[in-house]
Amino acid sequence: MKQNTILKIVVDIGMTVLLLLLMTYELIGEAMHEWLGIGMFGLFIIHHILNRKWIRSIVKGKYTPLRLWQTVLVIGILLTMAGSMYSGIILSKHVLSFLPIKGGQSLARNVHMISAYWGFVLMSLHLGLHWVMMIGMAKRFVKEVPILLIWLLRGITVLVAGYGVYAFIQREIGQYMLLKNEYVFFDFQEPLIFFLADYIAVMVLLVCINHFFSKGMRYVAQKRKAV
Ligand code: HEM
Repeated sequence: MKQNTILKIVVDIGMTVLLLLLMTYELIGEAMHEWLGIGMFGLFIIHHILNRKWIRSIVKGKYTPLRLWQTVLVIGILLTMAGSMYSGIILSKHVLSFLPIKGGQSLARNVHMISAYWGFVLMSLHLGLHWVMMIGMAKRFVKEVPILLIWLLRGITVLVAGYGVYAFIQREIGQYMLLKNEYVFFDFQEPLIFFLADYIAVMVLLVCINHFFSKGMRYVAQKRKAV
C-alpha cells in the first residue's frame, strides 16, 4: 500500500476519534476540548491537502446526483468546521483566551452548538459515502474472511444502528441541531464510555444510512446507463 494511502487512513481514523471526543465537551475537560478542537482543525487541513486532487476537479466534469450529494456534504462540513473554529476561538476560556477576539459571545455559543451537531451528522454521513472504499482498503490486509464472521458483523452492525436511533432521540441530538435546546446537558455522574458508546451508535447509524443511500444512487445510475 502506498505511503500516501496509509497517511490518509491514519488521518481519517484520527479525525473520527477526535470528533467523538469533541462531542463529549466538558466530560473530557474544557482545556482538553480546546486542544482537541485545534488538533481537529490541523487534521482537517491535512485531510484536504491529501485529497487535493478531488478539490481540483470540483469544477470539472458532469455532476451526477451522487456527485452532487457528495459535494453538498463536503461544503456543509467545510461550513460547520469554519463555524466551530471561529466560535471556538471567541468562546475559548483556556488555550486561545489570550486572543483579542471576544465579541458576540451569545451568537458564538449558538454557532458553536449548531456547527458541532450538524458537523457530527454531516461527517458521519460523509464517512458512510466512502465506506465501500474503506472496506476495499481493509480487504487488502485481510485476505479471506469466513462467511459466518461476515454475517455476524452485519448482525452486530444492524443491532448497533438500531440502538443508534434510540440514542439519537434520547441524547436530543436533533433538538441541538435545531437549536431547540440552548444548552447541552452533560451528566457528570455518567461514565464517559456510556456517552461515547451512544455517539458511536449514532455514527454507525448515519454511516449505514448514507452507505445504502449512495449504493441505491449508484444502482439507479447504472440501470439508467444500461437502458
Ligand atoms: C470540530 C471541532 C469542534 C467540535 C465538534 C466541538 C464540539 C463542541 C460541543 C459538542 C460542545 C458542547 C455544546 C456547546 O456548548 O456548544 C462544545 C463547547 C465548547 N467548545 Fe467546542 N468543538 C470544536 C472545536 C472547538 C475549538 C477549536 C474550541 C476552542 C479552541 C472550542 C471551545 C469550546 C468552548 C469554549 C465550549 C463551551 C461553549 C459554551 O460555553 O457554551 N471548541 N464544543
